Amino acid sequence: MSGPRPGGDGPGLRELVEDITRRLAVAGCASPRSEATQLVAGVLEVELGEVHRLALLGRRLPPDLCTPLEGWVARREAREPLQHVLGRAHFAGLELEVGPGVFVPRPETELLAERAAERVEEWATAEGPGPRPALELVDLCTGSGALVLGIAQRVQDRGRVPVDREIRLHAAEIDPVAAGFAGRNAERSGFTLDLRVRDAVGSFPELQGAVDLVVSNPPYVPAGAVPADPEVREHDPELALYGGSEDGLALPLALVDWAHRLLRPGGALLMEHDDTQGESLPSALQDRGWAGVRDHRDLAGRPRFVEAVRP
Ligand SMILES: C[S@@+](CC[C@H](N)C(=O)[O-])C[C@H]1O[C@@H](n2cnc3c(N)ncnc32)[C@H](O)[C@@H]1O
Repeated sequence: MSGPRPGGDGPGLRELVEDITRRLAVAGCASPRSEATQLVAGVLEVELGEVHRLALLGRRLPPDLCTPLEGWVARREAREPLQHVLGRAHFAGLELEVGPGVFVPRPETELLAERAAERVEEWATAEGPGPRPALELVDLCTGSGALVLGIAQRVQDRGRVPVDREIRLHAAEIDPVAAGFAGRNAERSGFTLDLRVRDAVGSFPELQGAVDLVVSNPPYVPAGAVPADPEVREHDPELALYGGSEDGLALPLALVDWAHRLLRPGGALLMEHDDTQGESLPSALQDRGWAGVRDHRDLAGRPRFVEAVRP
């Protein structure tokens, strides 16, 4: 980050944050003050705390930043997602590039990433004849790459997997715009990602029966359930939202069946789902012969993702 340029005759930062807060509140944004501060920090290219410090010192916005900031505020007033406006989203310890055309990764998906990281650690520290030298991890419907890269980051941060255990990352995404973000995010995170721009169903045919862990946050919104928030309804790509049937499970179940083909016996599937699918998806997995099927709830107590093992 370059340093702040807190001089000039632009508006005072304290008044500016107040004014943007008021505008975002009128527009119906959920956290107007926090977002106002993030927008000012973003345009100044400083950390959030630095905005508070500069505001207390009575600093002003450099005049050449007034027009760019006004453009950002107007986009946010029109309920474009804050992450699209700022061009970045935080997920599982990573800063990811996002923007129009890609699904914004959600905090609740971090729970799945966390559980996946535990699964990777279980593999790496397994007793018995010893784990194979590399773990194959496949993310079906990767979007910005959040899940697969976030899992790799979590595993690295937790530091429990011996360095001689290789984790091979694979991801499929059908939309070339979204895949572009995933490719750039892999580069900026420093992880090597085998990324395929194609239908996730049928992807990585050469890995059939050899994959240790499949993760997926697929489109799962039921056909008639139009999201209430304009950020989601108007800015998340349709392809990222709808599961392709009235119950939203057409694509998720096609992915479940493909995951079954990809996984080795004992390999696991972790798949996020709508909170209306907390019984239907796990029982569909049970009917299909998966073992150890269990559903996980999010911090608000809503059914959030299913875990199952290929027998
Ligand atoms: C809900 S988003 C999730 C993205 C990412 N996994 C995350 O958690 O942020 C679903 C993604 O699946 C992609 N997608 C939809 N249908 C697909 C298919 N048949 N094959 C591969 N990707 C698909 C969409 O383009 C979108 O990027």
